[in-house]
Amino acid sequence: MKNILVVGGAGYIGSHTVKMLASRGYNPVVYDNLSKGHRQAVEGLPFEEGDLGDKTRLKEVFQQYQIEAVMHFAAFIEVGESVKEPSKYYHNNVASVLNLLDAMQESGVKYFVFSSTAATFGEPVQPQINESHPQQPINPYGNTKLMVEKMLEDFDRAYGLKSVALRYFNASGADDSGCIGESHTPETHLIPLVLQAAAGKRPSIKVFGSDYPTPDGTCVRDYVHVNDLARAHILALEKMEKENKSLRYNLGSGSGFSVAELIQEAKAVTGVDFKVEYEARRAGDPAVLVADPSKAQAELGWKPMYNLKQIITTAWNWEKNRRF
Ligand code: UFG
Repeated sequence: MKNILVVGGAGYIGSHTVKMLASRGYNPVVYDNLSKGHRQAVEGLPFEEGDLGDKTRLKEVFQQYQIEAVMHFAAFIEVGESVKEPSKYYHNNVASVLNLLDAMQESGVKYFVFSSTAATFGEPVQPQINESHPQQPINPYGNTKLMVEKMLEDFDRAYGLKSVALRYFNASGADDSGCIGESHTPETHLIPLVLQAAAGKRPSIKVFGSDYPTPDGTCVRDYVHVNDLARAHILALEKMEKENKSLRYNLGSGSGFSVAELIQEAKAVTGVDFKVEYEARRAGDPAVLVADPSKAQAELGWKPMYNLKQIITTAWNWEKNRRF
């Protein structure tokens, strides 16, 4: 039985990964301060309430559960907020991660899985972003994630700490059970907002920009189901441990959909013709962000199993019956 500490395990991607780890015979221990996460998302599983910045507490938990690897999901993720409040982002997304890595070092925990992001690449210089694409973030959020990637390279060289950095594109969808799903406050992501409009919880969906250099003028993104991401975490963890080496992967479907296309699909899935309003661009949004996932496919045997329709269907199922 492998004991994995899942920091931020009560959050969106964390809770789906925890559920999958448990179903695959791992023993996930959730460590979360519940500032963003939800206790109901990890009912019935080992849970330790604690802060990422609390090294003493982290070391106690490492020892208590004989932790072998850490998965880290406890980051702030809002690009716009990171521009307005960078200090908050550097503290939580960089300084606290350094604290976590130090606690791991001092406790002899050698494996780390890190949630990175497409935002580390900045403006794309080629249609599909592979792992060799230059990493030039255009906002503090992306900077914080890239800094940790760099820190991890140095920790491997100096201390032999092995890590996986997974650069997610647009994480979306919900577990097929409908028991867990996306729940942010405030919600800023497109799919939950679209579905809240369909459910009558919002008067409309506002489309940020219709003058981008894309076929229909709206932004193109690569949506990848949260359970496909969860599966990639487990595959990458196993490869890292088996080969004892650090790994980097871009996780997306390889297909882009525009905001307008996504809204059409959501209208078809929900059967609701909700109101759509076109507004000005949102600051910091690149026109197109699409992954080249061929490295993850070749090395991990990972291929997304959910298409856009299934992503929206699972998210709709969650939106209609959500518990938190
Ligand atoms: N959008 C709208 N209306 C809304 C919300 C979003 O038109 O009400 C648009 C955005 O402008 C963007 C697209 O929908 O073009 C997707 O926006 P999201 O906020 O859902 O997602 P982002 O692509 O901005 O960001 C996501 C993650 C970030 C990560 C980024 C990297 O949330 O954490 O992907 O690709 F940095």
